[in-house]
Amino acid sequence: MLLSALLVLFFALSGFAARTPSISGRHVLRQTQTTGLQDIVTWDQYSFMINGKRIGLFGGEIHPYRMPVQSLHLDVFQKVKALGFNVVSFYIFWGILEPKRGEISFEGFRDLQPFFDAAMEAGIYLIARPGPYINAETAGGGLPGWGTNVDGLWRTSNSSYVEAYQNYIKTVGAKLAENQITNGGPIILVQAENEYSGYQAPYTEDFEYETRLIEDLHAAGITVPITHNDAWPGGHYLGVDVYGYDSYPNGFDCTHPTTWLADAVPEYFFGAHEGFNPEDPNAVYEFQGGAIDSWGGPGYANCAILTGPEFERVFYKNEFAMSTTMLNLYMLYGGTNWGGIASPGVYTSYDYGAAIAEDRSLREKYYELKLQANFWAVSPAFLTSRPMNIFASQATFTGNDALKTTQTLDAVGNQTGFYVVRQTDASTDAIQKYKLTVPTSIGELTIPQLGGELTLNGKDSKIHVVDYKAGSTILLYSTGEIFTWATIDGHDIILVYGNEGELHETAFKFDTDVPTAAVVSGSGNVKQQNISGNSLTLQYETSGQTVVEVGSNILLYILDRDTAYDFWVLHPPSTGSFTHFSTENPIIIKGGYLMRSVSISGDTLSIAGDLNTTVPSLEIIAPAASSKVVKFNGKALQTSKTVYGTLKTSEVSATLPEVSLPDLRHWKTADSLPEISSHYSDDLWTVANRAATFPVSGVQVNASLAASLYGYHTGNILWRGHFNATGSETGVKLDVWGGTAFGYSVWLDSTFLGSWEGDAAHATFEGSFNFPTTLKKGAYVLTVLQDHMGIETNWWSADDFFKTPRGIQSFEFLGSNETQVTVWKVTGNLGGENYVDKTRGPLNEGGLFAERQGWHLPGYPDGHWKSGSPTTGISQPGVSFYRTTFDLNVPSGVDYPMALVVSNATDSQFRSQFYVNGYQFGKYINHIGPQTVFPVPQGILKYQGSNTLAVSLWAAGPDGAKFAALELKITSKTDSSMRSVVNAPMPDWTSRPGVY
Ligand code: GAL
Repeated sequence: MLLSALLVLFFALSGFAARTPSISGRHVLRQTQTTGLQDIVTWDQYSFMINGKRIGLFGGEIHPYRMPVQSLHLDVFQKVKALGFNVVSFYIFWGILEPKRGEISFEGFRDLQPFFDAAMEAGIYLIARPGPYINAETAGGGLPGWGTNVDGLWRTSNSSYVEAYQNYIKTVGAKLAENQITNGGPIILVQAENEYSGYQAPYTEDFEYETRLIEDLHAAGITVPITHNDAWPGGHYLGVDVYGYDSYPNGFDCTHPTTWLADAVPEYFFGAHEGFNPEDPNAVYEFQGGAIDSWGGPGYANCAILTGPEFERVFYKNEFAMSTTMLNLYMLYGGTNWGGIASPGVYTSYDYGAAIAEDRSLREKYYELKLQANFWAVSPAFLTSRPMNIFASQATFTGNDALKTTQTLDAVGNQTGFYVVRQTDASTDAIQKYKLTVPTSIGELTIPQLGGELTLNGKDSKIHVVDYKAGSTILLYSTGEIFTWATIDGHDIILVYGNEGELHETAFKFDTDVPTAAVVSGSGNVKQQNISGNSLTLQYETSGQTVVEVGSNILLYILDRDTAYDFWVLHPPSTGSFTHFSTENPIIIKGGYLMRSVSISGDTLSIAGDLNTTVPSLEIIAPAASSKVVKFNGKALQTSKTVYGTLKTSEVSATLPEVSLPDLRHWKTADSLPEISSHYSDDLWTVANRAATFPVSGVQVNASLAASLYGYHTGNILWRGHFNATGSETGVKLDVWGGTAFGYSVWLDSTFLGSWEGDAAHATFEGSFNFPTTLKKGAYVLTVLQDHMGIETNWWSADDFFKTPRGIQSFEFLGSNETQVTVWKVTGNLGGENYVDKTRGPLNEGGLFAERQGWHLPGYPDGHWKSGSPTTGISQPGVSFYRTTFDLNVPSGVDYPMALVVSNATDSQFRSQFYVNGYQFGKYINHIGPQTVFPVPQGILKYQGSNTLAVSLWAAGPDGAKFAALELKITSKTDSSMRSVVNAPMPDWTSRPGVY
């Protein structure tokens, strides 16, 4: 143990002297590595391999727990697949699987198997990230609520922590093991811990814990490589099989989405990687795919701009330049912080500004990713490449100081070169003109050869290739970027693209006679010349679509970016196992919004796709013998041949029927704060009388009024303090802790004393609340209703920040020193860790009276309630609850995601939660925001049948509160080929024994 720790330390320290790359030394290392436990997933210094075949792993992160409708995983995976990615990483949230120590449940949305099965069906490999710590803006960073009561430092080798996590890792590890590729499943890698990178003195990296966790994963049956994502290339946790790192180079300031730092593009990654683990591929397990937005933030539309297509072009292509053959984006599809999933700081949406939006619709970012992913997929030379001139990239190859060009060469094939050009100053929007002077197999060339200049327009980056193989065609070079190529019926079909109106050149190299090129479609201003040797240079403008036949075997598609977005490369399933992972027999389809999958049966090509209102005519490039009949979404199409032999059809159009939505006018209402009435009995509440046991992050906390000590880890918490007044009390001072953006309200018996309404900055607040008059001698009850924004995350390693309590840290009576609370009582969700709703899980319900009673559930008998709606609201402080039911009748065959859209009518401040068929799908704080659109997936909303919507309204100010509007809206419309949705289980209300 000591020896291995010392070895790890040695590697960690030697890593700080990052080496400059040089091609030679690296060949020595080249030998396949395995875990020794299996030989399906292996690696060397260039890339991972599956069954001995090199594979670039490109993909992104998706969280199963942020999408509770299991049948929708397939839709998202298919969208990932269709863009050309092959891998998805996912976190597992320990806290929801083991909400009570020793009781692990995979019930309802927590079952992981449907997620694995959907990945398998779509043909996507998985990287499992079970933690135990995950961060992920998830309550507790994934750690369970009960963990806050376990003494000793977490995320260390401390035995109380190790004993706490082992049952979970054993149980979940066994599920992962069953689904490893070695057992016919999609899991190819398993990550230990998460960003085990940051330590505050006196703590340092705990190698014993690192080794222990690897051993525990092995003991659970994990045989595929174990990985780790250091928070930056810093050399932490090098003892795993394949170390890698994370990077968020554009930061999280979504308020200024177009501001980039001049030096934002990291160029040191490859050197750092070579310093730490040169024998492994350069793996980036989390690279920025969006950004977090916080309570009070600018909203995710801005984050999607911060990390939009321009960001993708510049930053991802730089990763390409660094020979990153494992590039995984965080997030690729963010989903929703429904129920109590969110950690403090983030709100209900976890859209993340990702390529696939929260409602599963596709952003422009998605299409840009498609261009890059397809290029990576058909460029095997990249998988054995090396960047040659890191930190010496400025002006190189262009003579232009305003540009940096990284030369990335295939170190094994020794032929192909990639030249990645970008601005020296990443923040500029300037236009740069340049010529590229590069070595080629026929000598050094200055490109463009036929006159003119290349252009880099503002925040952009390009990959120019040299001596690039596309089937039997050799591209001597191409400045027009390669989208894809495929050899179909003996023809090499090559698709290149550029920005609208840009000048580019593509040159072909031939063994013998040089053919001529003929424009067969479009204009493209194509010039051609045989300048040197057996090469043919084409110069053109990328504008719309131009097709050029070069000799009889090459078809070159010249596209502008927007046109390129319409093309899809899909692979029919192969025979045998792993049938959907095939990358053989590509079919290229020009088809608009989403072309999801293809299959071939005899002479029939079947395409499944989704259409929105803009439907171009389809163009299909497929082997003639298997596309005599073409079906789109099951319907045979009339096709005709283009002059250059591909198939065209003009018959496809979207059917987007009108759907009428309910107006949500008829509501029932009831009071959800009977606790302040004189008749209310808190006999069944938990007595809060435990002693404080340990400090948290160095702060001595008053654990006796910490909700977690009594098993309440989520949602609203209520406290009742019974005291006998001496007769001199004038008020009370309370220091309440709830997490960023929390609030609390205080009552003396039935009298409202005031609220801390919350803001986007405070996680705790000490407030003084005056009694209306000095009290008389006698018995009183103080009621405090507080919001709980989730258990804190614990980003620092060897820390226990997640144990920060939620509750009353201190209180004192004003005007009297002697007054004591005789008994404090507390309640959160009914049952605490013995939560009632096993289907919707442990975090869905909080402690509001309505929630304890189950009023949010379908089928609750509200017949005796009076009429009243959230838009009428209440006129005094308190909590009211509303229920309505409505029918939906959305025909099958369309994907019409919906959202609850709200606006507020009062200046007063309120908090609301929305429950759709019992699932809490929104937490709205009107004065903090920013979220007003709350997507609710199909399957939580029943698209055929009756739905129950419930709303809590906690008015924190003296004037009460109401909504201006609360509506159900459709957020996007497609005529869809997605698998029909099976509704999530949504059990009805049943009477709850022991409820109070
Ligand atoms: C990373 C972390 C992720 C997530 C991300 C920010 O550092 O590994 O879990 O928290 O930051 O969204």
